Amino acid sequence: MFQIIDGKKISQEIKEELKEKVAKDKAEGKEISLAVIQVGNDPASSVYVRNKKNACAYIGINSLSYELAEDTTEEELLSLICKLNEDNKVNGILVQLPLPKHINEEKVIQTIDPKKDVDGFHVQNVGALCVGSEGYVSCTPLGIITLLKRSGIEISGKNCVVIGRSNIVGKPMALLLLRENGTVTVCHSKTEDIKEITKQADILVVAIGKPKFVDETFVKEGAVVVDVGIHRNAENKLCGDVDFERVAPHTSAITPVPGGVGPMTIAMLMNNCVQSAERSV
Ligand code: GUN
Repeated sequence: MFQIIDGKKISQEIKEELKEKVAKDKAEGKEISLAVIQVGNDPASSVYVRNKKNACAYIGINSLSYELAEDTTEEELLSLICKLNEDNKVNGILVQLPLPKHINEEKVIQTIDPKKDVDGFHVQNVGALCVGSEGYVSCTPLGIITLLKRSGIEISGKNCVVIGRSNIVGKPMALLLLRENGTVTVCHSKTEDIKEITKQADILVVAIGKPKFVDETFVKEGAVVVDVGIHRNAENKLCGDVDFERVAPHTSAITPVPGGVGPMTIAMLMNNCVQSAERSV
């Protein structure tokens, strides 16, 4: 029998813990504020931004909302970020991605003060993760490590395989698993014979962005499978990068979609915001 890793429940527990912490900080006169910037109105981004603001409200973090028009110039956005960098009342700055094509995403991310980069995307924070010093860690991979730890899954010494090498998930995921003493392999679009590698995995993290890409032929009997993907299929139902029905019976534990990794990303963003306030004291 396999364990379904309940990201909804674990993320709720974390939010309760953070809520208590924030209430204590408030009683001592410490407020936490997160600036949330969205440029344009991509429907998926609007849903994510709404969920992030709702989580802030639940935990007791002030969210400062900046909804900018699609035709906002790069200069205008950079100037807003600089203003927020200077503002002592702002602890964290989040720019929802993707940005419209005329704006250089990389330049925007690198303009955010690394001490306020609660997404953990700034090179300084990625570098800190790489060398093992303190910094913000990208929320989705941090959420996955937290899910594994809170589910009692041992990482140390295990064969960990990550499918996908994005800056937001794949690369920081590999670094985090390494930090936990896993033996890590990263597979990507140019990997030859991917199944031969994934079949060695004790822990398989799938972040490839293709619906139901992984079936049971990729998975070693008794492996732990973490699914980062989220897609809508032809019947408008949500599904992940993993074919859950076919893969689950061969695992010892697996994350579902929805209700697995997704809710953890927002819980970790809230965690990073609380951390930002603690660091600014
Ligand atoms: N777009 C998709 N995922 C993310 C995320 O984690 N942070 C931001 N800022 N934008 C995203």
